[in-house]
Amino acid sequence: MKTYALILAAGKGTRMKTELPKCAFPILKKPMISYIIENIEKSVIDETVVIVGHKKEVLEDILKDRVTYAFQEEQLGTGHAVLSAASLLEDKEGITFILPGDMPLMEYPIMNKIIASHLEMGNDLTVVTMSMDYPKGYGRILRDENNAVTGIIEENDCNDYQKHIKEVNSSVYVVDNKLLFKYVKEIKKNPRKGEFYLTDIVALMHQHEKVNTFQVRDASIAMGINDLYQISKAEKYLRDSINKSHMLSGVSIVNPETVTIGHNVRIEEGVWIYPNTTITGDTLIKKGAIVGPNSEVVNSIIEEEAEIRHSIVLDSKVGKKTTVGPFAHLRNHADIGEHNRIGNFVEVKNAKTGSDTKASHLIYIGDAEVGANVNFGCGAVTVNYDGVNKHKTKIGHDVFVGCNVNLIAPIEVGDNVFIAAGSTVTENIPNGALAIARNRQINKEDYAKNLIKPKNPL
Ligand code: UD1
Ligand code: CA
Repeated sequence: MKTYALILAAGKGTRMKTELPKCAFPILKKPMISYIIENIEKSVIDETVVIVGHKKEVLEDILKDRVTYAFQEEQLGTGHAVLSAASLLEDKEGITFILPGDMPLMEYPIMNKIIASHLEMGNDLTVVTMSMDYPKGYGRILRDENNAVTGIIEENDCNDYQKHIKEVNSSVYVVDNKLLFKYVKEIKKNPRKGEFYLTDIVALMHQHEKVNTFQVRDASIAMGINDLYQISKAEKYLRDSINKSHMLSGVSIVNPETVTIGHNVRIEEGVWIYPNTTITGDTLIKKGAIVGPNSEVVNSIIEEEAEIRHSIVLDSKVGKKTTVGPFAHLRNHADIGEHNRIGNFVEVKNAKTGSDTKASHLIYIGDAEVGANVNFGCGAVTVNYDGVNKHKTKIGHDVFVGCNVNLIAPIEVGDNVFIAAGSTVTENIPNGALAIARNRQINKEDYAKNLIKPKNPL
């Protein structure tokens, strides 16, 4: 028997008041829908259908061919959304796990538990519910005197008594697939909202089929996100739980409320993370490294015992025992070797350095290949852009680049080279050479008095 997932993600997300469709909106820099799909991929679910509609291309671009799509042209409600998948699923034997696309915090172990409970109990429909002290915005669960679930009523349709019901619908269901499509076709338009509510399936099924609930204990994991305030709530929840799991595995985080670590980031033990730091994307931080304060690391590898302080590292790699910052910017595949120093106001873009290289202050290294033990003096620049094209700079090993040197690319500098300060280098430099590319100084004796009037004449 197969298990299908059906994700409802066609809605506009009107309450978000954003251009991006709701299910594509990022939480800790990752689209909401990606959390759901990643968890589904780890679960017992065999096939996934995502219902798309409003700005469907945005979701399709995120999920590509990881899922099958069904198209809901007009967003006429959650019941109507399920019906849009009829041509793909309706005659399939099996069970369907229905999830709203705005519920990113449910992880796969609980998904598996819900599915297992549905099968063990022999249910035809399982409604996942939770208890909330302030259930505003959620559909309330209706039960009869024997405590059997008889329906779900949306908040707008609740009377005063029903509004006080604390058990709410999470919008997650497990249902026999054939029965799902049989009953969803019977759902009538809600007279108040003019939409077909999937929630009505409970009232339709409970008399003829076996309907039960599965209550999740931690309501936060089944939180639905409808507006930007709830986005911040979900981020806070996720941030706390991610930080906690890193701390329990030996990562020291100072002032963790100010530290944001993405879902896929891997951090080894013995790492220190200081305040106001964001680490996201596919990032790996190795043993003993220090990141922060005030730093941003995205899609990067920070090797053992490297230090990143007050700096930005994007799509880059920082070698073992290398120090970066304050105020450095590594981007676009900067690949910094071991034991380097990338210091104050230094930018490195699409460049590789060997070990023991130092660029301590006010330096730009772009589109370059730099060897080991190279010292860049203050203000050195690889001049990579001629206004039209970008060109490459190659520097060998054991090179001293003096202060304020411009290396006009394309250019190659050999090994054991010394470049005099202030040089604008336009030609390749062979191994072992001293290059001086600047005008010789002229001192005009006794001339200064023509230009300045000294306060204390000699
Ligand atoms: C829904 C439930 C409510 C539950 C709450 C839990 C209904 C009628 N109500 O309310 O009982 O407590 O979730 O979070 O089901 N969607 C479509 N097509 C549509 C309409 C919606 O695909 O025509 C998608 C949305 O993109 C969204 C999901 O379905 O991801 C849920 O829709 P939403 O409008 O957020 O429902 P709620 O009002 O939160
Ligand atoms: Ca919702």
